[in-house]
Amino acid sequence: MTDLSHGKTYPPSPEWQARAWVNPQTSQEMYDASVADPELFWDEHGQRIDWFKPYTRVKNTSFAPGAVSIRWYEDGVTNAAYNCIDRHLETRGDQVAIIWEGDDPSESKHITYQELHDEVCRFANVLRNRNVSKGDRVTIYMPMIPEAAYAMLACARLGAVHSVVFGGFSPDSLAGRIEDCGSRVVITADEGLRGGRKVALKANVDAAIDRLPPGVDVDHVIVVRRTGANVAMDPLRDVWYDAAREMVTAECPCAHVDAEHPLFILYTSGSTGKPKGVLHTTAGYLVYTSITHKYVFDYHDGDIYWCTADVGWVTGHSYILYGPLTNGATTLMFEGVPNYPDMSRFWQVIDKHKVNTFYTAPTALRSLMQAGDAPVKATSRASLRLLGSVGEPINPEAWEWYHRVVGDNRCPIVDTWWQTETGGVLISPLPGATTLKPGSATLPLFGVRPELVDADGKVLEGAAEGNLVIADSWPGQMRTVYGDHQRFMDTYFATYPGKYFSGDGCRRDADGYYWITGRVDDVINVSGHRMGTAEVESALVAHASVSEAAVVGYPHDIKGQGIYAYVTLMSGVEPTETLRKELVGWVRQEIGPIATPDLIQFAPNLPKTRSGKIMRRILRKIAEDDFGALGDTSTLSDPAVVDELVNNRQNKR
Ligand code: WTA
Repeated sequence: MTDLSHGKTYPPSPEWQARAWVNPQTSQEMYDASVADPELFWDEHGQRIDWFKPYTRVKNTSFAPGAVSIRWYEDGVTNAAYNCIDRHLETRGDQVAIIWEGDDPSESKHITYQELHDEVCRFANVLRNRNVSKGDRVTIYMPMIPEAAYAMLACARLGAVHSVVFGGFSPDSLAGRIEDCGSRVVITADEGLRGGRKVALKANVDAAIDRLPPGVDVDHVIVVRRTGANVAMDPLRDVWYDAAREMVTAECPCAHVDAEHPLFILYTSGSTGKPKGVLHTTAGYLVYTSITHKYVFDYHDGDIYWCTADVGWVTGHSYILYGPLTNGATTLMFEGVPNYPDMSRFWQVIDKHKVNTFYTAPTALRSLMQAGDAPVKATSRASLRLLGSVGEPINPEAWEWYHRVVGDNRCPIVDTWWQTETGGVLISPLPGATTLKPGSATLPLFGVRPELVDADGKVLEGAAEGNLVIADSWPGQMRTVYGDHQRFMDTYFATYPGKYFSGDGCRRDADGYYWITGRVDDVINVSGHRMGTAEVESALVAHASVSEAAVVGYPHDIKGQGIYAYVTLMSGVEPTETLRKELVGWVRQEIGPIATPDLIQFAPNLPKTRSGKIMRRILRKIAEDDFGALGDTSTLSDPAVVDELVNNRQNKR
């Protein structure tokens, strides 16, 4: 079996082994204990959070076909905001909780735990005054400003369920998410600011609400002032947050909620249908994000920790907010982008705030790598100790660059594999314990039991390649698809009954290391963002000129995967460059800029089986320029279609 890292390995240095919470031996002992007796292990770690009423039952989970049920610490009572804020006040009231770095390098703020408490209480009171209470869903469509964190934690404080929608999604996408969870309150800002460019958030909210079907109502829109833009305000529905904030106090009690009370919904793309509302609950999620933040990032008191994700994604939820704040950490929140004002921005921010741990995505690294070493070398980065990667497989070249240039050969890299559904990291090195292999997420974390299975569900032993499943529950696991438990069971537990199916392919080498090879379903990963090919297809066919569309991923140097769309036009419509551009703009408008097709090929015919099913395997191969491997085309209703597609393929270079 080929070793993609060319056999290079990086054992933990003696300094790291001495400093870290676990070394090679203790981490192995801890892992063995965690899988030998999960109840005991997770009972011990249930103490990572404070309880209003202690639990007596640790684990009550079943992956049984048709009866999947996941409950952790179920009879305990707690509150997420209490664990992230209040319990730290006595010892860390004056410690910085959030360092906020603005899009403009001249803007930053330091928010202490006491200030965070006061701001979250005020936000919670503003919500309470608008009748938000336990169990209500609140949609948050915000830029990366401290108020986004205040709003999320304010919901948690009241026991309301937040649904954060990434600010890059279109009004249509936002409307779908508001409707699906029935939010009556939306929190937004006048505009967002990224890379010096303004994003019309409030206008998008207005457009989204206009699109809601009759009977679905939003009663309140709370608007945080960010740029000061002059935006339309509906006097009955909309309120400026700064005005509302003046009317309330900085005290608000924490709701007492059950361990399994919903904490948030986060929509994510799957192979079919509309995005799913992934539901996470309170206690297990906090325990899991807290333990993984501590061990994966080897977090110690006083560390300055920076995760560059947006709070619109799960990485922002788990590793900007909930994990770090549960641990009483100082977490950096960045409004901007890696290349503004220039290509050194990340490294300048590291120097400015003396960041020790830096966690980012391979796509950002690949784009920065293209600018050469000089923008990195122009900065010191002396404070850096540990680097992290998330969102997609990191190619060994990007890994080596990250290690050598960004980390000056000094900082271990934790390549963390996980998903929106898993709540926190499942497979990752531990910096004081694991010998690194560039490109491998290495080994499972405590309590995690990965398996590789073949197409028939047979468990593969030793060095093997197959589909990645997880054999038993962990506390951070999603509990259901909001409003559709059947879909939850069908999506994740039906393919390999009794196991959680990740949707990822994976290879395990002779050392037991895991190498994620990418999605095996119809999900593509564009710049670390998940996109369902079906979503892009349905956006395309919604255009009057399009009769049919098939979308696949193809390898892209920067984005990891690009979006390749085969489009069949309505008869009589001419395939022109203008139309091509129009369709690209159309998809951006329907879903959002993250879904922008990179290539559109007009295809008079698509390869179909005799039963009319589009053969995506062939479309994928053509998009990959892999014509030698088209495989068996004899089952096609018209094999000549393939030659036509190959001859007309879009040139990528
Ligand atoms: C991919 C992001 C390889 C994978 C936290 C997964 C990765 C999907 C890695 C989840 C990694 C994430 N190595 N692939 N370290 N991390 N992925 O839900 O395909 O946005 O299924 O969660 O990203 O994406 P999601």
